[in-house]
Amino acid sequence: MRIQAPRGTFDVLPEEAARREVLESHAKRILEAAGYRRIETPAFEATELFARGVGEATDIVQKEMYSFSDGAGRSLTLRPEGTAPVCRAYIEHGMHKLPQPVKLWYLSSFFRAEAPQKGRYREFWQVGAEAIGSSEPETDAELVVLLAELLDALGVRARLTISSLGKPETRTEYREELQRYLRANSELVSEEVRSRIDLNPLRAFDALDAGTREVMSEAPKLLDRLDAEDAVHFATVKRLLDRAGITYEVEPALVRGLDYYTRTLFEFSSDALGAQSGVAGGGRYDRLIEQLDGPSTPACGFAAGVERMLLAAGDLPTSPALTDLYVAIAAPEGEPQAFQLAREARRAGLAAQLELAGRSLKRQLAHADRVGARYVAIVGDGATTSLKEMDSGEQRELPPADVIPAILRGSRLV
Ligand code: HAM
Repeated sequence: MRIQAPRGTFDVLPEEAARREVLESHAKRILEAAGYRRIETPAFEATELFARGVGEATDIVQKEMYSFSDGAGRSLTLRPEGTAPVCRAYIEHGMHKLPQPVKLWYLSSFFRAEAPQKGRYREFWQVGAEAIGSSEPETDAELVVLLAELLDALGVRARLTISSLGKPETRTEYREELQRYLRANSELVSEEVRSRIDLNPLRAFDALDAGTREVMSEAPKLLDRLDAEDAVHFATVKRLLDRAGITYEVEPALVRGLDYYTRTLFEFSSDALGAQSGVAGGGRYDRLIEQLDGPSTPACGFAAGVERMLLAAGDLPTSPALTDLYVAIAAPEGEPQAFQLAREARRAGLAAQLELAGRSLKRQLAHADRVGARYVAIVGDGATTSLKEMDSGEQRELPPADVIPAILRGSRLV
């Protein structure tokens, strides 16, 4: 049987690669203009990083990680997300000594053993940004604004929902209140929700069955339980977004699948994606660095799914590949000279392709036309090379050394 790419993975073919490059250049432009600098961390990490960072009770850690042994008794995991690794790197490289916040961005692949469907893969890519070392609400609002700009630049129309989780202590109290509420209504909610009241009661807000939904519409909301400081922080984030002209909806029961969040939470979703509507999400994670044994450091960030952005994106004008020169071979004796000419042309800054398929001269010219070559140099066994300008059809004989200067003179390059 022919071997195929594993389920839930995909090949990026050249045309799609060109669209990805457009996305990458927008991300780089927008994030670096705001002072974010690129970071890349390893594709795998100690499993414990995610167990502690993302949270034991999350779906990601419970059932979606690709973990394996390093052969020396240590468990490693293909990274399912980028925030915990970036925080690990922040601690490991003593970045708390740098001026704060340290603003980092990445464009990396991530791995989750999810059931594959449109927009949901087992290896996928994210553009992420993390601002580590600031608790200012301006940081949160700025990240949302930058993410909105990226989506806008790509023609992705997405709805923004925001919320706040407050402090972990508030959340613990609220969790108990919610557990009491769910237990009191346990006959009305689904079996799955009932079985997870102890482990993850918040997931009840995600349930789709009518019974649970009705119970949850009356459930106490964390947003109504925030302490004064957190409430002011959230109010400031909202005011800054209003001033920036960003439209959003406050969703008191917004749930994200990662346990490290505190305070601000946000998500962009798009109808263009079907069931997998989440395009990008993020929030504040003020306790994560400490949880990973680093100095107490507030932080905030986002990640946007590359494939989901590309699925939801409008037309992304990609620039066609340029070929300045096609080097055709008219006689086998000319091959070494043709090889050399292509090489020298590239060194002179031209995009030059060499005939590599042993075609007839007629076919070589047709191929040169197909690849959009502006000039074709026909190299034979004689002392001259003939240079054809494809647009005009004009052709002349030149000493080989004059071919590149002639193209440079006639091209936009000089
Ligand atoms: P997340 O919401 O798990 O957040 O993932 C962010 C984005 O990655 C999603 O909105 C989605 O576009 C994309 N994504 C997630 N899973 C898949 C998948 N299986 N296939 C395709 N795309 C997927 C995080 O990962 C956090 N680290 C975000 C963050 C950064 N929070 C603070 N800083």
